[in-house]
Amino acid sequence: MFDTSIFERSRNRMHCNILEANCEKYLKKSKDVFDLTFLDPPFNQGKDYASHFDEMPESEYWKWMTRICKLVYDHTSDGGAIYFMQREKNVEHVLEGLRKSGWTFQNLIIWKKKTSAVPCENKFGLHFQIIAFATKGKSPRVFNKLRIDIPLLVTEKYPRPNGVYVTDVWDDIRELTSGYFAGDEALRLKNGERLHKQQSPIHLLARIILSSTKVGDSVFDPFAGTGTTLVVGKQLERNTIGTELDSANYQAILGRLAGLRESDRITKYRKYYVFTENLNEIWPAPEAIIRRLHDYQEQTQPLDVG
Ligand SMILES: C[S@@+](CC[C@H](N)C(=O)[O-])C[C@H]1O[C@@H](n2cnc3c(N)ncnc32)[C@H](O)[C@@H]1O
Repeated sequence: MFDTSIFERSRNRMHCNILEANCEKYLKKSKDVFDLTFLDPPFNQGKDYASHFDEMPESEYWKWMTRICKLVYDHTSDGGAIYFMQREKNVEHVLEGLRKSGWTFQNLIIWKKKTSAVPCENKFGLHFQIIAFATKGKSPRVFNKLRIDIPLLVTEKYPRPNGVYVTDVWDDIRELTSGYFAGDEALRLKNGERLHKQQSPIHLLARIILSSTKVGDSVFDPFAGTGTTLVVGKQLERNTIGTELDSANYQAILGRLAGLRESDRITKYRKYYVFTENLNEIWPAPEAIIRRLHDYQEQTQPLDVG
C-alpha cells in the first residue's frame, strides 16, 4: 500500500524518484504534494506505445485528461503550477480541462520548435505546439522572471546589454529530431533508432522548472517517458518524482539517472540565462551542485497500486 508521502519521508534530503506505475492509480493513493507538474501525455494520435492505447474515443481521452488534471490539482501546493503540453488543435480541450479541474489559466505558451514545419495540403504547415501554464489559485507561489541573452538579429544594430525577458513565445528551444540535426541528446537503441520519439529537450524542462520553482521544491511528471523532467530537476536541486507505465522506458530512466550523460548536462544553458536577476538563487552555481549531488538518492519505491 502506498500510504506515506515520498517527500515527507525524505524530508531535508533531495530526492529523485521514478515509479513504474500508472499515474492515475498513483495519484489516487499517494499523499505527495507538488509545487510544479509537467504534463506531457500521449496525444491520442495513434502512436505506437507499448503499454498504452493511443487511439481512444476522443471524449474518453479528454475525460481522462481532465481527471488527471484534477488529481494533480488536489496534490498541488497553493499557488503551485502545471504546464500542460499538447497539440495546437487541442487548445480548447486543454483550457476547458484545466478550468473544469480548478486551475487558473496564466499563459498559453507557443513552443515554436525550430524544426521544419509539418506540411499540410490545404492549410498552413504546423510549426508549434502549445503549453498551457496554469496555477492553483490566482497568484503563482513562485514565478521567476527569466532573462535570456538572445543573439543580435540582422534587423538590430546593437546587442542588448541585459538580454530580454522570456515571453510566451518560445522559439529558441529545439525539438529533438531524427536525422542530420538530431544531436546527441536523444536516447538511442543499439541499432541507432530513437528509444522514445516523444523525448522532450532538457532545455524545455530547464525553462519550465526555473520559471516556476525554487531550489528544494517538488516537481512531478505523471507521464515521465524517458525521464527528462527528473534528469533536469535533479541537476537544479529540485525534488522530483515521475510515474511511467512502460517497463522499457522505466528501465531507461533508471539508467539515465544513474549516470549523467554529457548531452544531458544543463550547465551549457546557464550562460544563456545570465541576465536573470536571481539566477544564483534558483540555479545554484555548478560547483555547489556537484558538491551536493552525492547527497541525492535515486530510488525506486515498491508500489502496490492493486
Ligand atoms: C509523450 S510521452 C512523455 C515524454 C517525456 N516528456 C520525455 O521527455 O520523455 C508519454 C509517456 O507516458 C507514458 N504513459 C502512458 N500512459 C501512462 C499512464 N497511465 N501512466 C504513466 N505513464 C503513462 C507512455 O509510456 C509514454 O512514455
